[in-house]
Amino acid sequence: MDDQTNLKKRLQELRQQIRFHDYQYYVLNNPVISDYEYDQLYAELKHIESEHPEWITPDSPTQRVAGAASDKFEKINHPKPILSLSNAFDKNGVLDWFERISKIDERVEKADFVVEPKIDGLTVVLHYRDGIFVQGATRGDGIIGEDVTANLKTIKALPLSIPISNSNSPAPPYVVVRGEVFITLKDFELLNHKLEEAGEKVYLNPRNTASGSLRQLDPAITASRPLTLLTYDIVQIEGERPRTQQELLNLLTAWGFPVVESLYCPDLNSVLRAYDYYLEKRDQLAYEADGAVIKLNDIQLADQLGVVGKDPRGALAFKFPAREVTTKLLDIGVNVGRTGVLTPYAILEPVEIGGVVVKQATLHNFDFIAEKDIRIGDRVVVKRAGDVIPYIIGPIIAARTGNEQPYHPPQTCPACGQKVEHFEGEVAWYCVNAACPAQLVRNLEHFVSRSAMDIAGLGIKLVEQFVDAGLVKDAADLYTLKKEDLLKLEGYAEKKAENIITAIQQSKNQNLPRFIIGLGIRGVGEVVANDLAIHFGSLDNLMNATIVDLMEIEGIGPNIAQAIIDWFQTPRNQELLKKLKKYGVWPVQIELKQNKLEPQVFAGKTFVITGTLDHFSREEAKDFIEKHGGKVTDSVSKNTTYLVVGINPGSKLEKAKALKIPTLSEAELMKMAGE
Ligand code: IVH
Repeated sequence: MDDQTNLKKRLQELRQQIRFHDYQYYVLNNPVISDYEYDQLYAELKHIESEHPEWITPDSPTQRVAGAASDKFEKINHPKPILSLSNAFDKNGVLDWFERISKIDERVEKADFVVEPKIDGLTVVLHYRDGIFVQGATRGDGIIGEDVTANLKTIKALPLSIPISNSNSPAPPYVVVRGEVFITLKDFELLNHKLEEAGEKVYLNPRNTASGSLRQLDPAITASRPLTLLTYDIVQIEGERPRTQQELLNLLTAWGFPVVESLYCPDLNSVLRAYDYYLEKRDQLAYEADGAVIKLNDIQLADQLGVVGKDPRGALAFKFPAREVTTKLLDIGVNVGRTGVLTPYAILEPVEIGGVVVKQATLHNFDFIAEKDIRIGDRVVVKRAGDVIPYIIGPIIAARTGNEQPYHPPQTCPACGQKVEHFEGEVAWYCVNAACPAQLVRNLEHFVSRSAMDIAGLGIKLVEQFVDAGLVKDAADLYTLKKEDLLKLEGYAEKKAENIITAIQQSKNQNLPRFIIGLGIRGVGEVVANDLAIHFGSLDNLMNATIVDLMEIEGIGPNIAQAIIDWFQTPRNQELLKKLKKYGVWPVQIELKQNKLEPQVFAGKTFVITGTLDHFSREEAKDFIEKHGGKVTDSVSKNTTYLVVGINPGSKLEKAKALKIPTLSEAELMKMAGE
């Protein structure tokens, strides 16, 4: 084989691997390699494609990157009307539906069903020609939608290609699939949390965020939002159509689509039980579901029943009870976050929403209160979706008595009393007092948290106790705490105090990324902290970095770079670092390497070494392999992945040849690990 053929083979291999890992990560939620390894595969593919642009195909994983922005969406005629669903709000509604359609076709009496959760997202219509995703549209009015192909391509759960050969269930030459794009409740909260810390406007709910994100003229914006997808229908298909909804869902799964979960129901009674099941499970679903969709399993029968207006007779949305209620807004409280952002929250007359008593709800930000003209004493609509913090939708103006009081944001910090400030271009108000106790508590809570220094047993309650007692004025003070200090506080027995002190002292060994996360620099979460640690290698280097050095790192823009510079230039933070260093809390890169930062490229691979190596001693070679996630054993067996061969190899080489085990030179071994 010539070099070109080899390279092309590698290109195809890389695409296949990346697709496999995308599927594991985004569809099955079961990643099998680290982000770092994934990035390496991706970088290699990008590199080959940059050398050979003629080899780029539209389904290459690199083609998910955001293309150019446009000034409007093109209109697309749907191949068939994209139908909606009629609703039922109780069991009688379902029985009425069943009776109605039984009268039209007596086969319904003995019909079976499939029940699926009704995802509260937005419909998308996905066209695949010859196995390639060629076009995607929003629902629009059901007849004409908007072309959002470029945006949809950025959604990693969406397959850019589906198998048309080499598969047990090849897809037909043309198929149009329908699904729902949404943001998981967890991702929604994370997104809002980040925005809030950055002083930016938060989103009001997951559905609008998903819809707004997909309908962006600049695909780069869509790409930055955590959109995902589940499919549930085939709108059109060239070739054999599935007979049942069950078959349809199985086909979609076999083609690599993420598919909505479902329950098969042999009769109407089990349909009602399936509804109860999903109602019960509602809070455990990753997304907001607003009902269960009941579908006749027999697709032909469903089609023959026809359509009323825009609603097919063969399916029904059985809605869950709304999780929006009204209650009285008793007062508005204000929280002070880690970065000093002030966030208003509603104090409510307690009210039950879907089995949970709600007393507080978020009011997003002060602009929201002003825009909605929310007044203290108002009746307000509150919504609770899944585990997302309940939020206020707005006031009921018609219920006003005239006694409601307009709200004025505080001029001073509710925790420390200092004047609050507003920065140009941001919606948030900040307490800029670095010594504000509320901020200190939040900062410490962050410092000890699981993703940062991971100090077991320490949470906001205990940290608050330390601050209130005057024991701790910054994170470094934690390391000076003694058992006797804690014993003086309420609720500490000998053992508990001892455990906490031990956990604090042990955290001195945490690695550099965790330490960087713990500093609580705006915009520096797990990913950025890892990048900084890898790039600069030590805290001392990071402290001396210039804005240009920082922006050299992919993914770090001017805002984060400036936030990092500002953080290290703040005298109070410099003081904190000095103290931490003095107390021996100063991670070094050496430890990092041994921990987890090396890309685990050898994960799952077993190596045997034979002969004398040039660069490494045996022990060093073993360390090197283990550091990258591999295992080293003494003898060659069928479980050996590679034999590393040095000068004067022994009999192991013969054995490896007999077992057809590939060999590597020392240089090849190092190259595989990217060194
Ligand atoms: S089936 C003819 N299944 O609910 C097929 N729709 O109110 C009709 N939806 O516009 C759709 N989850 O966007 C179907 N499992 C599911 C669904 C689902 C969410 C949405 C869909 C539709 C709306 C109807």
